[in-house]
Amino acid sequence: MPSTTTSTAARKTTARRASSKTPDAIALLRADHKKVSELFDQFEKARSTSRKRDLVAQICLELTVHAQIEEEILYPEVQAALKDKELVPEARVEHQSIKDLIAAVRDVEPGGEDYDAKVTVMGEWVKHHVKEEQNEMFPKAKQSRLDLVEMGERLRQRKEELMAEQQRH
Ligand SMILES: [Fe+2]
Ligand SMILES: [Fe+2]
Repeated sequence: MPSTTTSTAARKTTARRASSKTPDAIALLRADHKKVSELFDQFEKARSTSRKRDLVAQICLELTVHAQIEEEILYPEVQAALKDKELVPEARVEHQSIKDLIAAVRDVEPGGEDYDAKVTVMGEWVKHHVKEEQNEMFPKAKQSRLDLVEMGERLRQRKEELMAEQQRH
């Protein structure tokens, strides 16, 4: 069956090529987590209103796009591959809580009552959520039949589209 051999080899070459320029799904999402965690750390040290405003705008943008690519691509595919009834539903509920806090601080001037508290609590929820993804969901996804290199490429493309869309608003 020479044709099967060729197509398998071709697929492997494509995957190698994709992996040399694109991080796999887990690496891409972990990089997002790290970036947001650093933004929250910077917020805790920030003193001026303009710096806080700028950091919160970045945090909201990053989290909104990150949550959306996970919900559109990662979560349904992990749920199907793992036949999961717990990790993904809980992650979705956690996203909703985080989005409620995003709505409460996005486009709101810093300095108002509970503003800093809302951002701090958002950071704590994100930290908890990230821990569950990285310690539970991602290791299980790695052991599954999912092609994480190919998924990484789709996540990257969708992220690019959404970033451009968000920044136009
Ligand atoms: Fe998430
Ligand atoms: Fe995440």
